Amino acid sequence: VIRDLGALTGPLLAFGGPVSNLQATRALIGAAAARGIAPGNCLCTGDTAAYCGQPAETVAALRRFGCPVLAGNCERQLAEGAAGCGCGFAPGSLCDRLSAPWYAHAAAALPGAARDWMAGLPDMLVFTHEGRRGAAIHGGATDIARFVWPDAPETVFAEEVAAIRAAAGPVELVIAGHCGLGFVRQVAGVLWVNAGAIGMPANDGRAETRFAVLEAGTARLERLAYDHAAAAAAMQRAGLVQGYQRTLASGVWPSQEILPPGLRRPA
Ligand SMILES: [Fe+2]
Repeated sequence: VIRDLGALTGPLLAFGGPVSNLQATRALIGAAAARGIAPGNCLCTGDTAAYCGQPAETVAALRRFGCPVLAGNCERQLAEGAAGCGCGFAPGSLCDRLSAPWYAHAAAALPGAARDWMAGLPDMLVFTHEGRRGAAIHGGATDIARFVWPDAPETVFAEEVAAIRAAAGPVELVIAGHCGLGFVRQVAGVLWVNAGAIGMPANDGRAETRFAVLEAGTARLERLAYDHAAAAAAMQRAGLVQGYQRTLASGVWPSQEILPPGLRRPA
């Protein structure tokens, strides 16, 4: 399902990965207000409920905010009552084992109304902004849970752009999420903007997370500071103590195996 937002005027704020982090979600809503960006000009690339402690409260806050949201793999899996997050982690890998507790917590904590909302979310958003036609997707258009890393070869981006154009017509701008790393790259005939994740640091050793602002023909990543200690405390209360609760302060992922070798932090 593709949802057409029509023409968006003024700065656009794109964000991904609230991942059950209520404190980061509230901070993002505050950052939009501080910039005078209305909810209708804020796009969420999905994974609203994942790693952190407050899935129901996070989804409720986003629904009250009212910005367009597309479905990530987490929304699709939770809406279906699937057994796991569908992130694409190799079976038995550390990421796979670490995902079981947070997925089970989200599945148990989300009310039926939140699942129904997730089930109705589109796969893709299209819009025009500053004369440019854009599409927002989760991981990839070929696979919702594809990890399109910042250093991926151009052929990877070209495959995704071709799939987006086949589904939605011409685009010159793509906004994506899922992989957790924000980046901006002019590639395969589009400006590709991964808006990153607001609810989990980017494995860069900093607690601040990332979102993207698009205006005056360019896209830039901005830092989001929020009460990460409160978010970690909510994870402790929920029994989510497998390592991601420390990441909120340290900015370092508990497992780097999902990352391409060139993007791993030296041990
Ligand atoms: Fe995802």
